[in-house]
Order: sequence, then C-alpha cells, then structure tokens
Amino acid sequence: MFYKKPIIGIVPTISSHEVDPYQDRTNFVRMYSEKIKESGGIPIGILEDPSLYTGICDGYVWPGGNQILFDYYPILLDAIKNQKPFLGICLGAQVLATFLNLLEDQGNDKAKSLKETYNLYKENKPYLKKLEDENCHFHIVTKENNSILSARHKIKIEKNSLLYEIFKKEEMSVVSLHSMGISRVSKDTIISAKAMDEVLEAIEYRENDCLLLGVQFHPEIEKENFLFDWLISSTRKYLTLVNRENPIKYSKNFKIIEYHSKYPNCIFDSNLERKTCEAWVNFQKFLKENGYDAEIESAYRTKEIQETIYNAILEKEGIEYASKYVAQPRFSEHELGLSIDVCLKMNEEWLSGFDERLTEFYSFLEKYCSDFGFILRYPKGKEEITKYNYEPWHIRYVHSKKIAHEIMDNNLTLEEYLNKK
Ligand code: DAL
Ligand code: ZN
Repeated sequence: MFYKKPIIGIVPTISSHEVDPYQDRTNFVRMYSEKIKESGGIPIGILEDPSLYTGICDGYVWPGGNQILFDYYPILLDAIKNQKPFLGICLGAQVLATFLNLLEDQGNDKAKSLKETYNLYKENKPYLKKLEDENCHFHIVTKENNSILSARHKIKIEKNSLLYEIFKKEEMSVVSLHSMGISRVSKDTIISAKAMDEVLEAIEYRENDCLLLGVQFHPEIEKENFLFDWLISSTRKYLTLVNRENPIKYSKNFKIIEYHSKYPNCIFDSNLERKTCEAWVNFQKFLKENGYDAEIESAYRTKEIQETIYNAILEKEGIEYASKYVAQPRFSEHELGLSIDVCLKMNEEWLSGFDERLTEFYSFLEKYCSDFGFILRYPKGKEEITKYNYEPWHIRYVHSKKIAHEIMDNNLTLEEYLNKK
C-alpha cells in the first residue's frame, strides 16, 4: 500500500486560563478532528511552535476562538508557499482575511513584520469590525437559549465561487455566531458568501494555485462533511480520482491556462492545467530530443465539449464503442485539465489513435512519462478496473514524479494506487 492518508494540522483554541500548569490554555475541539477523520484525513493538534509541524502537515484547519495569534501565522505562510489547502472557521476566517490584507499592505516592505504592519494599519484601515449587538450574527448563548443552533440563518453564495462548487447551492442555512465581522478584503480575495444583511460569511483565495477558504459559519456541527471532504481531497488534488463512479467535484481547484497545439485537427481546446502544461512542455522537449515530434491532440475539455465528443462518437461508432472509449460529461478527467491525448507527426503526417506506426512511440511514452509526473491512465489488461479500453495515447498528470513512478513501475492504475479497487 503506497497511499497515505493526509495529515491535517489543527490550530488550538486558546482559553484565558492563567499560568496554572495543569490548566492548559490550548484546547482542541473534538468536533473538528472527528470531521477530519470522517473525511479520510489524520488530524493532529499544533502545539506551541507551528514551524515544527509545517513539514508534516498536508493541510490546515484554523477554527474559532477569541484571539488572533500571530505565532500561528507560519501555517498560513506554509499554506500559501506550498499550496496546501486551508480551512478557516469563524475566527479562522477572520484570521485569513486579516493575513491576506497584511500581505497586501506589507507589499515589498518586508523589513516590517506582519505584526508591525497590523499595528500600523489597524486604526486607519481596519480589517475587522465589531457588529451591531442586535445584528443576527451575534447571539448570546444563555441558560434560556443554550444552543448555538439558534444562530442559524441564511446566506447567499456567489455562483462563480469554489464555495458554490462545494455546496452546489446559491442559498443555504448555516450556523454563524460572531460579534466581529470582516470589514475589508485584499484585492485578490474573493467574497464567496454573504448573509442577507450583507455581512461577509465566506471568502476564498485561489491565486497562484493556492486553496484557502474562510467561512464565518460552523460546518463542524452539520451532519454533512462538504467542506472537510473538499479540504482532504484538495491535499492531494493532483491525485483526484475521476472515473465512472466519481464525477468531477472541484474543477475550480485547477487553473486552466492557454496552450496552442501545432496539431492542425485540434478542433477542441488544447488548453491545460498550469502545472500539467509545464510538465508537458518539458516532456515534449524530451520526446523531440529522442526523435518524436509529439503534440496535444486533445487536453482540457469543458463539460459541453465532452458532451459533443461523446455524442459524435456515439453517432459514428455506436453505444458499445462510445462507452468503452469516451466518458460521459462530468465524468471525464479531461475536464480537470490534467489529461492529454498525445499524437505524433511522422514524415509530415499526423498520426493518432490505434495506428500500427505508433506502437514504438507509445512504448516510449509509457516508459518515460513518469519521469515528468505523468501516468498511463488506461493501461492494457486493466480494463476491468478502469472500465475503459486500453488507451496508449492518454496520459494523466499526477504531479509527483515519485508517485508517478510508484504507479508505473508497479503496473498500477490510479484506482489501485488510491486503494479504491
Ligand atoms: N477517453 C477518456 C475515457 C475520456 O473520455 O475521458
Ligand atoms: Zn483522453
């Protein structure tokens, strides 16, 4: 078994206990770790020095509490630098908004620490504001009204956001209880949800392949695990499994960029996910050095393009053939931008698909693709597992060369690597 469960670091909630060594100031709330476990991750509590943990954590949860702790900012720096997913909840969302504002305001003046920048700006350009007492977000949990659930209210979700992709709803009811609200966001921060009174309920930051989400509401007390499922699967986003049983879930996790294929019949988009494109350009150069003039025949497809392809093949070849070779819309990993169908120019002729003249090239492709972070996604003899026919032209980016080698050198499919078969 190669696949290891992702490790999610949880920031503690700080209480105001004084220096009694038997009354710890750091609390870890069980609900967060339960949710992380249910979604397939391993929760660990981050104590004292966060930089000791950044090397082992694959993602983070910064939950609610009553203090913004600058000591824990290395976690956010790690999430941004190493593109690890981050979920801020309640105070955690305010921390995220504050942090992104600070980075923007700090600009190139790195001589100032984030804390100094905070002190400089908090008076003139406050990042947070105190909400009105009668505001619906601020509920006092009293003896008479002792349930946090009484703070349930509606929010509206921005349709073009990652949050919408996660919940697939434009409106929903959440438990959101806070006396402070986010009053300013940095220019690259997306506001993905607001309450009916316009108070910010969710933000996201997706620049430079980052995946940081902050929600003012409490997903840990809901039955469903939508946000925790997103967090765990985003820790290994290049291993996202899309097959007949698993449709596309979070396409907004991937940034698609333009690529111009020389292949003249590339009627569909040849665009690609950003890192897949970088890896392909390097692989293509290597292929060229070895005498193969390879190109992209088809790469990123929207749901609509996938539907057009499916219908065209269905009409031309019939249902049996179409279902062996083409995925239904929403069920193709081409829709992630991580897959490439490769073709080859030989003696001024473009060759693709099953053509005897490509046999040697396909062996070469299979032998070296893992050196560039790709795997052969539909290998020969694994049709029972992948549920698709052998496709020697279809390579899939998994990012880590080590993982690509583990898969290819051991003759595995992605399903087998992820222990899903
Ligand atoms: N040819 C693969 C299965 C797809 O259509 O995604
Ligand atoms: Zn393909």
